[in-house]
Amino acid sequence: MATTEVAARNEKDLPVTFSSKAFAAQSATSGLGPQTIRRRTPQENDVQIEILFCGICHSDLHQVRNEWNDVMPTVYPCVPGHEIVGRVTKVGPGVKKFKPGDLAAVGCLVDSDRTCPECQAGLEQFCPNMILTYNFPDKQLGGVTYGGYSDNIVVDERFVLRVPSNLDLAGAAPLLCAGITTYSPMRRWGVTKGKKVGIVGLGGLGHMGVKFAHALGAQTVVFTTSPGKKEDALRLGADEVVVSRNADEMQKHAGSFDFILDAVAADHDINAYINLLRRDGNITLVGAPEKPLPVNVFGLLFRRRSFSGSLIGGLPETQEMLDFCGKHNITADVEVIPIQKVNEAYERLVKADVKYRFSIDMASLK
Ligand SMILES: NC(=O)c1ccc[n+]([C@@H]2O[C@H](COP(=O)([O-])OP(=O)(O)OC[C@H]3O[C@@H](n4cnc5c(N)ncnc54)[C@H](OP(=O)(O)O)[C@@H]3O)[C@@H](O)[C@H]2O)c1
Ligand SMILES: [Zn+2]
Ligand SMILES: [Zn+2]
Repeated sequence: MATTEVAARNEKDLPVTFSSKAFAAQSATSGLGPQTIRRRTPQENDVQIEILFCGICHSDLHQVRNEWNDVMPTVYPCVPGHEIVGRVTKVGPGVKKFKPGDLAAVGCLVDSDRTCPECQAGLEQFCPNMILTYNFPDKQLGGVTYGGYSDNIVVDERFVLRVPSNLDLAGAAPLLCAGITTYSPMRRWGVTKGKKVGIVGLGGLGHMGVKFAHALGAQTVVFTTSPGKKEDALRLGADEVVVSRNADEMQKHAGSFDFILDAVAADHDINAYINLLRRDGNITLVGAPEKPLPVNVFGLLFRRRSFSGSLIGGLPETQEMLDFCGKHNITADVEVIPIQKVNEAYERLVKADVKYRFSIDMASLK
């Protein structure tokens, strides 16, 4: 009896939907292919966005291949993508910040409870009831949320960001995850002129980290496993580049860093970086490798070093980051691809062969 009642209520309450084109994975090994999905028509406070570009984050790959099974198991079909820029096509009657024709962006978050202390502090990424852009419960339609490898998305305006008009849109898309994920810990740990900052891993996140550390005035050192990326690292704003597989080169920097941002997507020796910190120096991990990393406690005890993590950023700080990028004309260095090349792009990500973010031109989905 209860089931029928719930079903009846759900049907009545279910918003009208429309169909959207998307690319989805059907299993951890299927790769991605075309899929039709349903989006809700804009409700009172919703913004409907025609997606123009969507960046490819290594998290998309982890999720599609179910590499985070222990923490966030993947529900299939999975439509990834959380670096979204586009143009507003429709708004609900209660929307105040956006009108059709405006540029708009969506990052990793599409909802939260809005009332808990984290939400009140503008740190929605730590809300116990946050809803991520894909693979999280879809409260309106049931099932899970579908991300930005799609031609449209509908999001409550509180979770929609403004894009500075001077920024190239293909390069602006990755700011919504790679940008905020590197900007936020740098602000948190006081990266500024006079500080020595290390960036580990020159991928999508890492190259944004270099741009921000440089723009914030810090002495910036890049650690890479790819000697071929040296020239690029300098061009992106690094003062120095260290090939991390070279122990002598690493040793030269022992005990000298105020802050290190580790953006590596795979297994690596974290202790080698802890040893590079000065007294009270901090290393923050944003990379999310599949397996746990062993930490040598003595490296932390000596010199009172600290080891921490950081997760994307809240809505106010994401807007601050976008405005900072507008002011300093910062965007990601992107290789624009049609969506039909997404599986090839994933293979290249695994080989650290990306300069420095893939950005999908969503016109290719039409
Ligand atoms: N915390 C958060 O909120 C958050 C947000 C977004 C992404 N992430 C995570 O951050 C990580 C990086 O994401 P991304 O999109 O920047 O990935 P990416 O573009 O693939 O870059 C990762 C970089 O790590 C380095 N690397 C790869 N394999 C390595 C290995 N075996 N040993 C040492 N270095 C290696 C490579 O740089 P070099 O060639 O320079 O060595 C590579 O370019 C992923 O795990 C992702 O899930 C976390
Ligand atoms: Zn991401
Ligand atoms: Zn909350």
